[in-house]
Amino acid sequence: MDSCLIFSGNSNLELSKKITAYLQKELSSIKIYRFQDGEICVKIEENIRGKDVFIIQSTCPPVNENLMELLIILDALRRASPRRITAVIPYYGYARQDRKDQPRVPITAKLVANLLVTAGANRILTMDLHAPQIQGFFDIPVDHLFAAPVIIKYLREKKFKNPVIVAPDVGSVKMARAFAKRLPGNLAIVDKRRESPEKVEMMHVIGEVKGCEAIIVDDLISTGNTMIEAGNALLKNGATEIYGCCTHPVLSGDAIEKFEKSLFKEIIITDTIYHSSLPSKFTILTVSELLGEAIKSIHLETTVSKLFI
Ligand code: R5P
Repeated sequence: MDSCLIFSGNSNLELSKKITAYLQKELSSIKIYRFQDGEICVKIEENIRGKDVFIIQSTCPPVNENLMELLIILDALRRASPRRITAVIPYYGYARQDRKDQPRVPITAKLVANLLVTAGANRILTMDLHAPQIQGFFDIPVDHLFAAPVIIKYLREKKFKNPVIVAPDVGSVKMARAFAKRLPGNLAIVDKRRESPEKVEMMHVIGEVKGCEAIIVDDLISTGNTMIEAGNALLKNGATEIYGCCTHPVLSGDAIEKFEKSLFKEIIITDTIYHSSLPSKFTILTVSELLGEAIKSIHLETTVSKLFI
């Protein structure tokens, strides 16, 4: 691993440090600063000519700042003649607009893919994309990891008596099914209707949840409305306890307070997005080892399949 260099943007330095600690490396030196008018300026402070280079940056809130910072870092790296640049994006923002579901709307997931490649990325390493098909928006290699092994390991330790894994909407069924198979547990689905980006309405619970510990799994929590409404529907249908799990804790607006007040026993999240302090109801699991192993495999050109077990 001596011959690769790992840089980090500012969005999640803590995770970047954990990844490099796992790989027994130091983060490479980069200066990122702002001009008085807010423009971002970057200086790569090491020679990277001919090197295998990784840049870690989640495009989480403030998403435009973090995305722009990543693009500018990629541009600076590309112009310094490395052999290859891998953008390590633990949380890939703008992914929810991934198709034209109504006339005259953008496909931001594709726009961001184009921007990353144009800026200089030769390869992408990411985790739990909102829709796995977003991989196809890139014509460069994409390694797509899942946080499931880390979350399932933690859930197993809780020794649930009668767990049911719940998808809070149809989009999460595949993820929930994978959890149900591996925990193991039964599967249920909440039929969600989204009335606006901020308002969701829960319709029916499909599957048996009565007398079960219900574990809701999703790729991300933003406003928290999807998960909280699903939790309420499950309690109404006889679930004994409710737990929430997600890979990407966006936690926008007053989501944290809403979970504090909710009947959730625990919210299990990962550190793809940094939060300086969260109430004790939240359990943060690290995905640094998974990402570290993937970086190692990419650099050493070995298979990443072992990370999906
Ligand atoms: C939806 O398709 C996603 O998987 C999440 O369920 C959703 O984006 C969560 O958003 P919020 O927390 O704002 O309801």
